[in-house]
Amino acid sequence: MTTTDTFDLKAHIRGIPDFPKPGILFYDISTLLRHGPAWRAAMAKLAAAIRPHRPDLLAGIESRGFLVAAPLALELGLGFIMLRKPRKLPGLTIGLNYALEYGTDRIEMQADSVQNGQRVVILDDLLATGGTMAAGISLLRQAGAEVPCAAALIELTFLGGRSRLDVPFESLVAYD
Ligand code: PRP
Ligand code: MG
Repeated sequence: MTTTDTFDLKAHIRGIPDFPKPGILFYDISTLLRHGPAWRAAMAKLAAAIRPHRPDLLAGIESRGFLVAAPLALELGLGFIMLRKPRKLPGLTIGLNYALEYGTDRIEMQADSVQNGQRVVILDDLLATGGTMAAGISLLRQAGAEVPCAAALIELTFLGGRSRLDVPFESLVAYD
């Protein structure tokens, strides 16, 4: 993959007002996914950002995090594991409940996904409040992983999600 410093990722992300509810501006990566060269450039840039953290394995958070983690795993020549919504994975799983603004959610992974001490970089498309990413980091540690870094394409800085993470966080674009 190749990348250029002039690549303008924000030009490929659109904001859709009032989705999923009134007052929320939704940052939609569908337009980026549809554009082959831009998608390729974004993945190359993110690969360059996480490579120095020397991952052994990548983890993606269902569902849009899979779109980021799987191509990055190919780019870096690494394996990829899925952190999934409840009751989706076969075999022995471990899970973690985490708080949302209203209510709770849960993520799960296969209990044997990680070897003790493996360096697992966790990926999502977007960091908002950071609750999902923080839960993913805790779950990976429960499975025996070291988490040297978390990363996403997009960061909503006005929600302060980064401050909920106790690992370095890499993002390609920020909205405030
Ligand atoms: C979105 C986004 C992140 C998460 C960020 O996922 O893709 O996973 O929310 O929010 P947080 O930082 O406040 O936890 P969503 O739940 O919309 O599901 P999807 O990825 O399956 O579309
Ligand atoms: Mg998501």
